[in-house]
Amino acid sequence: MNKIVFVILQAALQMAGSTSLRFIKPNVVALEVSDLSSFEVLLHCGEQYKGEEIYWKRNGESMSETGNPITVIVEGLHGGNFTCHRPNRDLLNYTLLLVHPVEFPKGGVLIQSSDREFISCTARNYNGQFNCSWKWHQERIQRAVVYFTAIRNSSPVNCTLDSDISGLTCTDKDYCRYSEESRSINLTLFVRNLHRLEEHHRTFLIRDIVKPDKVSITKIQDDVFEWHPPETWSFPCSFFPLSYEVKVVPNNHRCDYTGSRVEKNETNETHYKVKIKKAYTFCVRAQDPLTKKVWGDWSHHHQTKHRHTSEK
Ligand SMILES: *[C@@H]1O[C@H](CO)[C@@H](O)[C@H](O)[C@H]1NC(C)=O
Ligand SMILES: *[C@@H]1O[C@H](CO)[C@@H](O)[C@H](O)[C@H]1NC(C)=O
Ligand SMILES: *[C@@H]1O[C@H](CO)[C@@H](O)[C@H](O)[C@H]1NC(C)=O
Ligand SMILES: *[C@@H]1O[C@H](CO)[C@@H](O)[C@H](O)[C@H]1NC(C)=O
Ligand SMILES: *[C@@H]1O[C@H](CO)[C@@H](O)[C@H](O)[C@H]1NC(C)=O
Ligand SMILES: *[C@@H]1O[C@H](CO)[C@@H](O)[C@H](O)[C@H]1NC(C)=O
Ligand SMILES: *[C@@H]1O[C@H](CO)[C@@H](O)[C@H](O)[C@H]1NC(C)=O
Repeated sequence: MNKIVFVILQAALQMAGSTSLRFIKPNVVALEVSDLSSFEVLLHCGEQYKGEEIYWKRNGESMSETGNPITVIVEGLHGGNFTCHRPNRDLLNYTLLLVHPVEFPKGGVLIQSSDREFISCTARNYNGQFNCSWKWHQERIQRAVVYFTAIRNSSPVNCTLDSDISGLTCTDKDYCRYSEESRSINLTLFVRNLHRLEEHHRTFLIRDIVKPDKVSITKIQDDVFEWHPPETWSFPCSFFPLSYEVKVVPNNHRCDYTGSRVEKNETNETHYKVKIKKAYTFCVRAQDPLTKKVWGDWSHHHQTKHRHTSEK
């Protein structure tokens, strides 16, 4: 009987201090909050030091609480790096406690790109490599990547964090370029600014993020141009076709110009004859015709009528 009461009491106590900490990775936990009031959190130094005389520091400053575990108060977004020490101040362990505002709009730490996504991913072919990138809110200068993982079919995809901490370079070594891709890749990214944690996800198939590189244009005669699939594109061409959009815009306009006097055509050929007589800019870009998802960036060639310059 006594035992049952004790169990119930213990459960009730745990509920009262009900600030469930979410494990993010070893030594890093997140307090998930729906408002910015204050919360009590129980911090452990480690099983083997239970009941010992343990001293604590919060962000390097000594705390008055001693023991193991201790209860700390977290107010607003004020998490911290809590280190626990022996009486002689030797470091034993630490817990980085982050605050994850779960019902707040995202975007405090990262900002959305033009496609309204926080994470943008592209692959330049079907060899299983892809890149993902994100943009930091420029005022968040205490930024850090806490944790990331990419998983397909419950196997991890190998990703490395770029040195500017704004992107990942990934290789899915199990990816087979010749077979139908049926399972998507799940990317999870945890970032923080000081102690504020933000969680982002992106789910995609490689075929939906393939963006061919720029093609290189050769002028073979006046008003006749030729180009080749990007060197980085997957071969053979019979299996990985490319289609092209050709655009002829008035001279001194960019390839994305949409005004009048624009000649446009979509083609599977790799050559084109321009009919316009005035000076113009010849533009071409590539896309996978089987998915029709992402266009590559434009390549262009300026054609003046007396002399010409070439830019790729
Ligand atoms: C150190 O603290 C973490 C909690 O942040 C705990 O999970 C871990 O077991 C501790 N390590 C040791 C060696 O006690
Ligand atoms: C937290 O403190 C530990 C121990 O001093 C240190 O290794 C770790 O880098 C610190 N983490 C952060 C984010 O300050
Ligand atoms: C990924 O980005 C790196 C660095 O910018 C670049 O060298 C690499 O070619 C890119 N890979 C893909 C598949 O886009
Ligand atoms: C993951 O990729 C990195 C960089 O390309 C490489 O050094 C490392 O060996 C790879 N790891 C595995 C498990 O394949
Ligand atoms: C991938 O993410 C989606 C949506 O976030 C989820 O529904 C799905 O279960 C995840 N798949 C795996 C294998 O984790
Ligand atoms: C587009 O190109 C094809 C051949 O590649 C040609 O038959 C067609 O007439 C062109 N259309 C226009 C509007 O120029
Ligand atoms: C180009 O080829 C694709 C298939 O490879 C086909 O679906 C499409 O109709 C072709 N387009 C043109 C303009 O010939």
